[in-house]
Amino acid sequence: PGGAKSRRRSPKAARIRVPMRIAVYPGSFDPMTNGHVDLVRRGCHIFDRVLVAVLCNTEKAPLFTVEERVQMTRDVFRREPKVKVKAFSGLLVDFLRAEKTNIVLRGLRVVSDFEYEFQMALMNRRLDPEVETVFLTPKEELSYLSSRLVKEVHRLGGNVSELVPSLVYRSLQKKLPNGKAT
Ligand code: PNS
Repeated sequence: PGGAKSRRRSPKAARIRVPMRIAVYPGSFDPMTNGHVDLVRRGCHIFDRVLVAVLCNTEKAPLFTVEERVQMTRDVFRREPKVKVKAFSGLLVDFLRAEKTNIVLRGLRVVSDFEYEFQMALMNRRLDPEVETVFLTPKEELSYLSSRLVKEVHRLGGNVSELVPSLVYRSLQKKLPNGKAT
């Protein structure tokens, strides 16, 4: 026993498939910032696929419709096959089940994010004990960024062109002309 023949993989073993590790990255993405983009790419270093889940019925009265947010996000990652984008509504845990995964990816930028993120992670675990939330930190220089601030600064005439992907910036200019940005 133990000869070269027995070490060869049996045809059955060769057929065993390692399941794909899919992380769902949920959010409002209204709009996607360079901080989100950085986080998705970091997620791709760890997971086989990052599924960006764009929340439909956000209570925050979004600037962009869900179709616009999904399309912009797809356009941003069009050359990155590991990244998929879908809209979702209802409970995140139900979406995870439908997508046959139990991994949530979220970004932790600053300490003040922690409380909200901790509550969400524990609530999701309560709703489905199999759900695991993985937190990644974005690049330092993006750690102050948020969609809310980007929209506010843009609306008031500040230049946010280096804080969002260029196609998002063009959409922002169309949606919310600020009279100053070029
Ligand atoms: O970008 P945001 O607005 O911080 O994302 C929040 C989001 C979409 C992750 C959260 O609101 C969510 O998961 N909503 C879906 C409804 C749900 O499952 N709520 C309970 C989560 S604890």
